[in-house]
Amino acid sequence: MCGIFAYLNYCVPRTRKEIFELLVKGLMRLEYRGYDSAGIAVDGDKNTTKDNNQDIVLIKKKGKVKALDEELYKKDCMNLEAVLGTHFGIAHTRWATHGEPNAINSHPHRSDKNNEFVVIHNGIITNYKELKKYLNSKGYEFESETDTEVIPKLIKYVYDNRERDDLSFSTLVERVIQQLEGAFALVFKSRYFPGEAVATRRGSPLLIGVRSQHELSAEHIPIQYNSGEGYLCVDVTGLVFYRENTGMEYYFASDASAIIEHTNKVIYLEDDDIAAVVSGKLSIHRLNRQAGEDPVRAIQTLQMELQEIMKGNFEAFMQKEIFEQPESVFNTMRGRICFETNKVVLGGLKDHLKEIKRCRRLIVIGCGTSFHAAVATRQILEELTELPVMVELASDFLDRNTPVFRDDVCFYISQSGETADTLMALRYCKERGALTVGVTNTVGSSICRETDCGVHINAGPEIGVASTKAYTSQFVSLIMFGLMMSEDRISLQGRRLEIINGLRTLPDMIKKVLALDKNIKSIADELYEQKSLLVMGRGFNYATCLEGALKIKEITYMHSEGILAGELKHGPLALIDKDMPVIMIIMRDACYTKCQNALQQVTARSGRPIILCCQDDPEVSKNAYKTIGLPQTVDCLQGILSVIPLQLMSFHLAVLRGFDVDCPRNLAKSVTVE
Ligand code: F6R
Repeated sequence: MCGIFAYLNYCVPRTRKEIFELLVKGLMRLEYRGYDSAGIAVDGDKNTTKDNNQDIVLIKKKGKVKALDEELYKKDCMNLEAVLGTHFGIAHTRWATHGEPNAINSHPHRSDKNNEFVVIHNGIITNYKELKKYLNSKGYEFESETDTEVIPKLIKYVYDNRERDDLSFSTLVERVIQQLEGAFALVFKSRYFPGEAVATRRGSPLLIGVRSQHELSAEHIPIQYNSGEGYLCVDVTGLVFYRENTGMEYYFASDASAIIEHTNKVIYLEDDDIAAVVSGKLSIHRLNRQAGEDPVRAIQTLQMELQEIMKGNFEAFMQKEIFEQPESVFNTMRGRICFETNKVVLGGLKDHLKEIKRCRRLIVIGCGTSFHAAVATRQILEELTELPVMVELASDFLDRNTPVFRDDVCFYISQSGETADTLMALRYCKERGALTVGVTNTVGSSICRETDCGVHINAGPEIGVASTKAYTSQFVSLIMFGLMMSEDRISLQGRRLEIINGLRTLPDMIKKVLALDKNIKSIADELYEQKSLLVMGRGFNYATCLEGALKIKEITYMHSEGILAGELKHGPLALIDKDMPVIMIIMRDACYTKCQNALQQVTARSGRPIILCCQDDPEVSKNAYKTIGLPQTVDCLQGILSVIPLQLMSFHLAVLRGFDVDCPRNLAKSVTVE
């Protein structure tokens, strides 16, 4: 969890105020990753960049980044107008794992009272207790309750015990990470190495944005060692070529949303890469370089636009993302479905299709909302692929040491592509020889890189912590996979055609559902003071219940449960009375009659159900306390339409209850710890 942002300017004069603004803005973009406290480290006024006397100043504050921002300007010892020609500043927004949210536990963490080394960290150090014990025995004193603090203490220990005076900053870091277990993205700053930066990762994401005073055009981005002398070239052997005396700026961040407004040229670090900037030059070294490893870290050009990640006219990112769904779902299908020939091609999978068709079973793995997308599409995948399909919560899958075989095909569904549980499940299956397929929304993410093949859902950046448009795009992606698998099955052509036609009209249907927003808000006005809200359904809409209930609980803090209507009489019926708010999903599909039975059971106990049903269904409506009528589509796509009223409902309930929709308490967007 947590968000990392750091900024180095080399021969590009910046006032301290500009640097503060840049660091704070970077953190604000990353706040969705965690927001219980924040901090920065910058050079103090003694900075001369040449001598070793400069002070590093740490400023940390409990609360959101805004609280830190206000704190920065209270430091009247810092001259805001001071111009720093070369400077390195680091910043962090935290989501607590070890130690309560407070200023001491927040990052950057330091080696000692003189702030000789300071570090920001995203991830978790699993052997921190052993390291702490060892460092304690050597006289190093700890001030926080965090796992992270062992890192600055350890680098100081390595520095204090170095055998030569001329050890480089990156060598010190290399020695430190050799001792670390767990997951980390780290950025180091030191008073002994003014104007230098070292960053590294293992298991947690980290990328570097690069900006040069000279335009870095495509042909200036060499992909081979020794190519294009005179221009920036990053090679893992550690060499960088660039014009002498060129002003350079580097941005280190947990994800691209914090970098894109400064530069679209980025380098994604791989596990055990150690990136160092010395005298404005970037080099990347590998810890334990293996023979045959890719010798190049190419600079990639991001296509993301800044306005894509801005809120626009909406009250919250979540609301914006809900309303983006006609477009995001369209983008998921764009160029992949030919509505004239009914052909579906997912470019990332086509070379593996034969192998997938020969497999023993499909295992679809994810967490939270991404898991629900797997549940939502399981039945249609079984129908179209004629293969057994297991859906698995990543954590439980690992807890059970689930048997996995070489002829299994395992899908990893993840918006961020960084979720630790999902990533570990991926590594687990890879070790057992299964073919691995990523379904993610984040190009260059760990899951993208580590899977054998995959599908980008192309939903665009999702900033709201509660996932909405990623769910519907994951849903559509998995359906497209089923369609691709069934192309040569004569018996399935009618079904395929029906689904492809349904997909064609889906964006318009979603628009119709979004037009119900006022109706949904008026129901939320009645419900927002309730303690609980049950959501019931079955068949293709069971996943909608799970997903709707998750949305409600995570942003409104109301108790909410998704209940399989078939299970009603086995327990949940006991909850029903006239005061218990219940939403029921009753669509005209194979479960219609069974759902009506459940409705009878609810009304017989004086329940007053709010029913999501097809637009013109007088039979169901007459038993409803309220209805939300939806356009009807193909049964297996209906869940895409029926989840949207629940997304909107949760949004309105949260606003009415006075909560910050985009930043629900205790949660973070990207869960990069177990
Ligand atoms: C809920 C939500 C989470 C995520 C889960 C997996 O709204 O967003 O349940 O779905 O943490 O995240 P990804 O999809 O990034 O792997």
